[in-house]
Amino acid sequence: MATSGRLDIFATVQPGLEPLLLDEVRELGWTAAKAQPGGISFEGGWPDVWRANLLLRGAGRVLVRIGAFRAEHLAQLDKRSRQLPWAEFIPDGRRVRVEATCRKSRIYHSGAAAERIEKSLRLATAAVRGDVDDLRVFVRIDQNICTVSIDTSGELLHKRGYKHDVGKAPLRETQAALFLRACGYNGAEPVLDPMCGSGTIVLEAAEIAKGLAPGRGRSFAFENLRGFDPSLWGQMKQEIASAEIVSDQRFRGYDRDEGVVAASTSNAERAGLSSITSFNKQNISNLECPEGPAGLVLVNPPYGARIGEGHALSSLYQTLGRRLKEEFSGWRAGIITSEERLAKATGLPFSEIGPPVPHGPLRIRLYRTATL
Ligand SMILES: C[S@@+](CC[C@H](N)C(=O)[O-])C[C@H]1O[C@@H](n2cnc3c(N)ncnc32)[C@H](O)[C@@H]1O
Repeated sequence: MATSGRLDIFATVQPGLEPLLLDEVRELGWTAAKAQPGGISFEGGWPDVWRANLLLRGAGRVLVRIGAFRAEHLAQLDKRSRQLPWAEFIPDGRRVRVEATCRKSRIYHSGAAAERIEKSLRLATAAVRGDVDDLRVFVRIDQNICTVSIDTSGELLHKRGYKHDVGKAPLRETQAALFLRACGYNGAEPVLDPMCGSGTIVLEAAEIAKGLAPGRGRSFAFENLRGFDPSLWGQMKQEIASAEIVSDQRFRGYDRDEGVVAASTSNAERAGLSSITSFNKQNISNLECPEGPAGLVLVNPPYGARIGEGHALSSLYQTLGRRLKEEFSGWRAGIITSEERLAKATGLPFSEIGPPVPHGPLRIRLYRTATL
């Protein structure tokens, strides 16, 4: 397919975060983009697909939809899926995995649906099945409408490529980026996380300040697709890298756990962010406001307590709220937690409470204040 051909692009996001990703997609120039449940759709050519993978901070994956049709039984699925333009996208010999989901549809067996689609794909392209895949095809049958998409990302996009060491309950980088956006952060102010774990929030904020592309250190599935042009891709990466910004802001992370502080420091080194970030061991009860301009405190304290830990957590949140109210006049604060009771325990004057966002078995929300 020519690089100028129009493609139906879909950037996925966790439910609840669609408006924030829509904002980001539009800001990057895809102004006609539209929000749908679970993602943002827009049109473009292959360079748009590469650029979306490279630059979108909030998207989980970037998919290209190659067809949608009605299918009420497997024979229909067979027939229609054989008409899809597989060979325009998938080169021969690639190892492709097909994953199907069925919802409220007459075809209810996702395994059987995936098998049929896989067969059509193999008839058209000589793709092979393998334990490790080069490419993935997602099939969604919803109310008898079958949508077929090719994944252009590969590993989920929150895997930026520099984070080898993660703490116990890390936020996804994509979530951190969108919560920063929800707090109105645009790279021009300092950010501090007093319970930083593996440093996700601090590193994401520092990358935004430096204008670094989140995907600069990783590979993508689109490199295995037919529309890929390595020299154009190299040029695109170079142009974006040359637009790096010199930031004079500071990005600070603290945690009481020495191990995660060391992990955050190594993550920052690998990401090329050591010069503007610092990570130190410190208990929340010793938190002080740093010198310099006011900015944003964004924190994701522990939650999801086992029975018996509730009281200790309330008192941790109380201490956090007290330190912020006493020390951080002129700053804004955002607290990411799964429990309203704990957010309230901070005693902070929240001006806005975000929608629930899935996080493992829990649902977390962003509670944010105006200037304190
Ligand atoms: C949910 S984790 C934060 C995860 C982090 N956002 C990330 O993405 O890796 C909560 C962190 O709070 C830290 N913590 C718990 N109690 C603390 C205290 N009293 N003072 C400082 N840090 C504390 C834990 O060590 C843990 O790393």
